[in-house]
Amino acid sequence: MSLPKDFVWGAATSSYQIEGSVGGGRGECIWHRFSHTPGKVVNNENGDRACDHLHLFRDDVALMKELGLHAYRFSTAWPRILPKGTGAINTEGLDFYDALVDSLLAANITPYLTLYHWDLPQALQDRGGWENPDSVQWFVEYTQIAAHRLGDRVKHWITHNEPVCTAFLGNLFGIHAPGKQDPQAAFRVAHHVMISHGAAVRALRAAVPDAQVGIAINMNGITPASDREEDLRAARTQDGFANRWFLDPAFRGTYPEDIVALLGNILDGLDLAAISEAAQPIDFMGLNYYQRNVFAYDAGGLYGIKEVRLPDVPRTAMGWEVHPQSLTDILVRLKDDYAPAAILITENGAAYDDPAPVDGLVNDPERIAYYDSHIKAVEAAVALGAPVTGYFAWSLFDNFEWAEATPNGLGSCMSISRRSNVHRRPARAFYSV
Ligand code: FCB
Repeated sequence: MSLPKDFVWGAATSSYQIEGSVGGGRGECIWHRFSHTPGKVVNNENGDRACDHLHLFRDDVALMKELGLHAYRFSTAWPRILPKGTGAINTEGLDFYDALVDSLLAANITPYLTLYHWDLPQALQDRGGWENPDSVQWFVEYTQIAAHRLGDRVKHWITHNEPVCTAFLGNLFGIHAPGKQDPQAAFRVAHHVMISHGAAVRALRAAVPDAQVGIAINMNGITPASDREEDLRAARTQDGFANRWFLDPAFRGTYPEDIVALLGNILDGLDLAAISEAAQPIDFMGLNYYQRNVFAYDAGGLYGIKEVRLPDVPRTAMGWEVHPQSLTDILVRLKDDYAPAAILITENGAAYDDPAPVDGLVNDPERIAYYDSHIKAVEAAVALGAPVTGYFAWSLFDNFEWAEATPNGLGSCMSISRRSNVHRRPARAFYSV
């Protein structure tokens, strides 16, 4: 391989998807409320137990060591540290992360900590959640507490995971918590999330001067259905909503003007100039990449866009198109358009229905082929000058895949640990039942 010797190889998870969200003094989060609302998650499953990482984390670190990981990306659960979101601290929660970090370091695995991977304290949602401008200060308070307790040992920090999902899946399409379908709410959320990113970067720098700080942004490949001008414009608009609406704030402190013009009064009441606060210098950009989508012009579609589902292309069990070339293209585009100091692939992976284990091992050739082609795509981007310094597989374990639930719900059979959790720990159900 042509990747540099000090390239970081890791795997990623998130708190609600693996920890088990009940117990340990943890407060309720929006995903608990959402998944316990009938009809929101496949099979009405939830993350109450998930992979029970809260109790089994030492075994899990041993597994990481056995896999040879250099680094582990996890998230802290805000309501485990601050059950009500602000104010009283749950010391048991902080002790848990403290012990996790110590066992990672003892195993020579570098922790990469994400502060927000979607489990907002429900108590804050009850106060308007990210729609409330106070959410910026709430996030700073939580960031400072985590940084003061863990910053002596954790030197790699990620503020937000996939702000587009927080804003749009949760508040525009309603398929993620808190399950709203309200365009104005969705853009208010995006605004405060991005401003809170900038504020958290400043708070982290103050608390942990030698920290490396970044944000994890997800991007899909976006291809126009044809070379026709309308299709090119539809793809460009899609890129504006899905990508530039978040990248421009983070790197330039501005919003893309073409999208502002399209949105019109949906943005009423927002101080758009305040987005300049989102653009703090960061040490790396995290890129989460999985799939490609194709877009065409459709006069009847929202903002003239429709997604075209190509037949006969390779897809994962979740229906996501396998398209490694898009990963190369995105990395080169990021270098050209935004010039991040460094890029980490903070998530990449694929869900497939694993066959039954043989001699304790799961033979998963499709997943291996996916990783092989995507890691080659990273190499190709590096050869073209993209500053990629590490790669985190999603995911270390099969886990609670949000609205798609569990492997039974065709959700996340995405484990790289060879002995998938499903088979390795039959007693450790992914679902609460
Ligand atoms: C990403 C999420 C992660 C997981 C993968 C499959 O969008 O960040 O939690 O759900 O997709």
